[in-house]
Amino acid sequence: MYGTRVVILGAGIVGAACARELAHAGFDVTVLDRAGAAGATTAHGEGNILVSDKEPGPELQLAQLSRDLWPRTLESVAAGPLGPTAAARAEWAAKGGIVVATTAAGADALHAFADRQRTAGVRAEPLTRAQLAHAEPHITAEHTAAVHYPDDAQVQPAAAATVLLADARAAGARVHTCQEVRSAVVHGGRLTAVRTDTGRHEAEVFLDAAGPWSAELSARLGVFLGVHPRRGEVLVTTPLPPTVFHKVYDADYVDAVGSGDGTLQTSAVVESTAAGTVLIGSSRRRVGFDDRLRPEVLSAVAAKAVRLFPALARVPAMRAYGGFRPYVTDHLPVIGPDPRLPGLWHATGHEGAGIGLSLGTAHLLRTLLLDETPPLDPTPFRVDRPAVTEVPGSPTPEQSANRPDMRTGAPGSGGLLEGAEPPVAGGCRGARGTPGRSLGEPPDARPARPRGKGAKPQRQPGGGTELHLTVDGAPVQGTQGQTLAATLLAAGRTSWRRTTTSAPRGLFCAIGTCFDCLVTVNGEPDVRACRRRAADGDVLTSQSRSTNTGHRPAPDRDRPRGDAR
Ligand SMILES: Cc1cc2nc3c(=O)[nH]c(=O)nc-3n(C[C@H](O)[C@H](O)[C@H](O)COP(=O)(O)OP(=O)(O)OC[C@H]3O[C@@H](n4cnc5c(N)ncnc54)[C@H](O)[C@@H]3O)c2cc1C
Ligand code: FES
Repeated sequence: MYGTRVVILGAGIVGAACARELAHAGFDVTVLDRAGAAGATTAHGEGNILVSDKEPGPELQLAQLSRDLWPRTLESVAAGPLGPTAAARAEWAAKGGIVVATTAAGADALHAFADRQRTAGVRAEPLTRAQLAHAEPHITAEHTAAVHYPDDAQVQPAAAATVLLADARAAGARVHTCQEVRSAVVHGGRLTAVRTDTGRHEAEVFLDAAGPWSAELSARLGVFLGVHPRRGEVLVTTPLPPTVFHKVYDADYVDAVGSGDGTLQTSAVVESTAAGTVLIGSSRRRVGFDDRLRPEVLSAVAAKAVRLFPALARVPAMRAYGGFRPYVTDHLPVIGPDPRLPGLWHATGHEGAGIGLSLGTAHLLRTLLLDETPPLDPTPFRVDRPAVTEVPGSPTPEQSANRPDMRTGAPGSGGLLEGAEPPVAGGCRGARGTPGRSLGEPPDARPARPRGKGAKPQRQPGGGTELHLTVDGAPVQGTQGQTLAATLLAAGRTSWRRTTTSAPRGLFCAIGTCFDCLVTVNGEPDVRACRRRAADGDVLTSQSRSTNTGHRPAPDRDRPRGDAR
């Protein structure tokens, strides 16, 4: 298998974890993403790495494996070429979780749940009233039971994915952004290449890591996949003095996670971040890809959080954001080869636990690819299970056209075979029509162009116009149409701001709502790098202060025109 070509389709946390694992195992890894790395669901997760919310069974086993791998993986990154500073950017915090019940029935259910988990090897420690008050001084006095889970932990998800991708690159992986996979090339019933807007990528193995878009991607490749979006919203407070010390959630949360109900489910999930903000979740709704924030959902979530932490009632919410969990109706991820289309593998469907489960998924996948003994039974995650492969109701025209014959595994006559033209080309959401620049390409891979008065930006071979910027005094090349954030990432810069506690910050939400990516541009402070397009000659300077300066850019002043949102 050494040198086997693997193309990973999606650069979220799951694609990043798989890229790192496979690159270190000697595979020839290429990652393609239609947008930027870690900018989709991964940028909208809260970053909890939980064992506390899972019933004994296959998902808990995967969570325990992953929990074990997170600190070891970050230690290995720290010991490698990236060093400890890069590993620290993932903001690993083994802070522990506390589950709180507020009714008598809730207390019984919580203790019974904790008993079952203990038999599966989870550390679950009942807390007395005094112990809870000591652990969380601001928690409500109106509780009936509490259980401490010392193994629950947290990372900053987008930063963690970026660290994993950077380590994958250090091990030889290539990362290409702005490369939307449009169609498949199938030879003799085997997937041999995928087409993007700008070219074609051949490999022996293609790994779907497209999160909630896995169904769409799989349909383009010729198979139906039962992965659906499940909407979740999070409220973010202004930075506070230390108020919440663990991940704290009410006992309803486990029921909401396990529910298949498509209507609104809410429960209180409260935790602080390294920046001092408090994240308040969580909601679960089946609304397709409708990304409108709903005030009544946020109100319901906030009300439950205030019931848990009454002090939060007086705290202003700074912003809210939402994302789409990749959901499978049997609540298990999909990991392994697709028997209907040899060459295609999946690592998707992790719903609300993909950050935590990413490393275990990557490890399991590697053993399956290498035909080694897997760390746990992979059968529950296999692709050919009803929740994943059975088309509910009538198939859509696209599914009918593209779905292979389920009995023979032969692809249908959907125009996806060799010679078929890809659908109308679109492009990167960040810079439509601009060919992606390889993040695996070293920043100085292109010859420097002599600068001087009157020098004109040049057209790059792929079509984008070359730009020249200065970042903290060093020359950086970019491509016209890219945002400043995309330019910085392509130049290998993952952070360009420091908080008051010196924590590094760069791209987080990628949609202009979190203010993590502030940078000074041509002397103008607090420009959101994810919202402004790079211009030739821009001079960028890192910032080193809190986002909470009271200074805010005018709402749309730095929003790029066109579709670069
Ligand atoms: C509100 C909320 C809170 C959450 N909290 C937590 C938490 O605390 N802990 C936890 O573990 N999980 C949490 N999750 C879940 C977690 O965020 C997801 O499970 C995880 O991010 C999924 O990662 P992924 O890599 O599979 O998908 P994504 O991060 O969505 O990555 C998929 C990538 O595929 C790319 N892509 C899609 N289609 C194509 C195509 N055709 N061609 C090329 N590229 C394509 C996309 O651009 C994207 O970058 C939360 C989710 C939400 C919404
Ligand atoms: S990354 Fe959130 S505002 Fe730019």
